[in-house]
Amino acid sequence: MLEELSVAEARHAENVGREVVLQGWVRTRRDSKAGFSFLELNDGSSFGNIQVVADGKLENYESQIKHLSAGCSVTVAGLLKQSPGKGQATELHASRVTVHGTADVETYPLQKKRHSFEFLRTLAHLRPRTNTFGAVARVRNCVCNSIHQFFQEEGFLYIHTPVITASDCEGAGQMFRVTTLDLANPPKRGPQVDFARDFFDRPTFLTVSGQLEAEIFACSLGKAYTFGPTFRAENSNTARHLAEFWMVEPEMAFCDLDGDMDLAERFLKRIFRDVLEKCPEDMQFFNQRIDKTVIETLRRIIDSRFVRLSYTEAVEIFRASDEKFEFPVDWGADLQAEHERYLTERHFKCPVILFDYPRAIKPFYMYVNDDGRTVRAMDVLVPKVGEIIGGSQREDRLDVLRERMLEQDLDPDDYWWYLDLRRYGTVPHSGFGLGLERTVQFITGMANIRDVIPFPRTPGNAEF
Ligand code: 4AD
Ligand code: MG
Repeated sequence: MLEELSVAEARHAENVGREVVLQGWVRTRRDSKAGFSFLELNDGSSFGNIQVVADGKLENYESQIKHLSAGCSVTVAGLLKQSPGKGQATELHASRVTVHGTADVETYPLQKKRHSFEFLRTLAHLRPRTNTFGAVARVRNCVCNSIHQFFQEEGFLYIHTPVITASDCEGAGQMFRVTTLDLANPPKRGPQVDFARDFFDRPTFLTVSGQLEAEIFACSLGKAYTFGPTFRAENSNTARHLAEFWMVEPEMAFCDLDGDMDLAERFLKRIFRDVLEKCPEDMQFFNQRIDKTVIETLRRIIDSRFVRLSYTEAVEIFRASDEKFEFPVDWGADLQAEHERYLTERHFKCPVILFDYPRAIKPFYMYVNDDGRTVRAMDVLVPKVGEIIGGSQREDRLDVLRERMLEQDLDPDDYWWYLDLRRYGTVPHSGFGLGLERTVQFITGMANIRDVIPFPRTPGNAEF
């Protein structure tokens, strides 16, 4: 009986002796002088390939098998045997090789062993066939699975918050407009475009965060999380910014900032542990070829306690250091990547949770401390990537929240439903947002965020 196996399964020694069928894409073909060929086959199930031994006596050996090249798709039936080769437990001795699609050696772009990541970005439709992008896809998948498992085990409800929204959660005005109006001839009200005549009878945008809606559910049902794409129209051409990225946002009722930081720390450690355990081969690859420190870094973090430091204490550290910063670090200024990196890479050499930021540089929804000048915000900073989590205890006092909105030029009437949560049964509550891509970047050591999302959206780039 022929059994369909994945390449990952077929590579296990325990399957030696089985008659199996494997399907995938050829990575390389080598011909032996003894009249047979070796095919390296990959189907995405694991980093490693399986070696297929195709005998010259197979009926399509001369016509097809001998011409197979990188990118060709095949189904191979045969017997799994113990491999005499080093670094592989098994190999497949083919009894039949069916060729589904060929890939012209002259034009198939992935002939060369190594291409630059920049070049591969122009081939978003083919780059998943490379070692690196296969490994990134598996690690990303593992992280997503881990996210859901963690929150399910912790008793959070998975909720779905809208992609199209009328409110600017971060109050930063960096939103993509959603409209069906005829841009060449929009309805006007005076000199202004009349968005009251748009599809939703009001101006609408792609969401920058599901937080406000997650708060609704936390303030009704206790613990909730949302996980989905979020959008920011900031013109940031950096290795850490995307215009479309994925964010997971837990929100907890009856929880203060300390509880929020505890959750964030537990959550990150869980994700790192899962990836090391479930993707050892992919992580080995990243550790060898991308960044020689990633495995050791993750292991160390799992066993350590994150440093927790107030913004004010951080400013003291910058002041006392001999480091020449490009931007000055006066109390009240937003921190730049150079400051974050100084803390995590040089001063503490580990993740740092910074909390209690100046109120003027943080959004309206953060709880104002008794000192009146700081808010209960927290950012989790990690070496190299910088901020991967941003969160806070939420302002749960109606009057203070209204005041903060006015302070940031937001109209409280637009947020009447958000204010209602403080009017009826208000509770202390907290939450945060973890950027999925920055997390995958940190885990894998990939330098550019565009290489850890299948189809990056950045200024000027949306082809694939
Ligand atoms: O710090 P941010 O802006 O926080 C929020 O949106 C809150 N509403 C979250 C909450 O409390 N529920 O974003 C959270 C995280 C950042 O720490 C970062 O990891 C990621 O989202 N992020 C980005 N990732 C890629 N590209 C961008 N342009 C990003 N902006 C934020
Ligand atoms: Mg932030």
